[in-house]
Amino acid sequence: MARSPFAPIVAPSILSADMAALGDECDAVIAAGAEWIHFDVMDNHYVPNLTFGPPVCKALAKRLADTHPDVPLDVHLMCEPVDELIRGFADAGAASITFHPEATRHVDRSLALARDLGCKTGLVFNPATSLEWLKYVLDKIDIIQIMSVNPGFGGQSFIPESLGKIAEARDIIDTVVAGTDREIRIEVDGGVKIDNIADIASAGADTFVAGSAIFGTDDYGQTISAMKQALAAG
Ligand code: DX5
Ligand code: ZN
Repeated sequence: MARSPFAPIVAPSILSADMAALGDECDAVIAAGAEWIHFDVMDNHYVPNLTFGPPVCKALAKRLADTHPDVPLDVHLMCEPVDELIRGFADAGAASITFHPEATRHVDRSLALARDLGCKTGLVFNPATSLEWLKYVLDKIDIIQIMSVNPGFGGQSFIPESLGKIAEARDIIDTVVAGTDREIRIEVDGGVKIDNIADIASAGADTFVAGSAIFGTDDYGQTISAMKQALAAG
């Protein structure tokens, strides 16, 4: 199995953070070593849960611009349809916006919209969704996000079959962008923990979303360090 050539990124999902203290929670995980902040947007339609929208993103982006301007907000849309929200989150300061291909009528147009608005973008693949969607849009993609749980909730168990799909995505990227300077990241989302992160990296991922595994612990620094040690050792 091939590994990613890119440095690993740990992206805590604030879905599992203390919602009454989101700004402080972001500062705390960044101080603990997080490279990205993962922002899970749920609409009670595409998924059976409801979180936050562009105004909350805007408030966090404003705060991060002051305290940690180098840390991007990675917006994961679990919403249907997506185009109006892509506009809203781009305006609210999202650095990247990913969405599920089943959630838009026109995947190519939605990817182009995010890019035209200055964001990185990519597709999110549910456990039963085929990577076939990628075939004709790879030139518009910065992130391939593999869901290793069914979307909608934090704290679920990693679905082991996801490892094969990560390896499949790695093969696609390595074939298509070999010899170019393009950076397409493989982001894995759901059930990522200290004890499986090395296997996930070995399958070819380089960007690791973790919600409950980080925010469910008392010492974020210790947890993120343990994740990075596991990645380095693997
Ligand atoms: C699930 C979300 C994930 C989730 C991950 O629908 O997209 O980002 O918060 O949570 P954990 O790490 O607890 O599985
Ligand atoms: Zn997510």
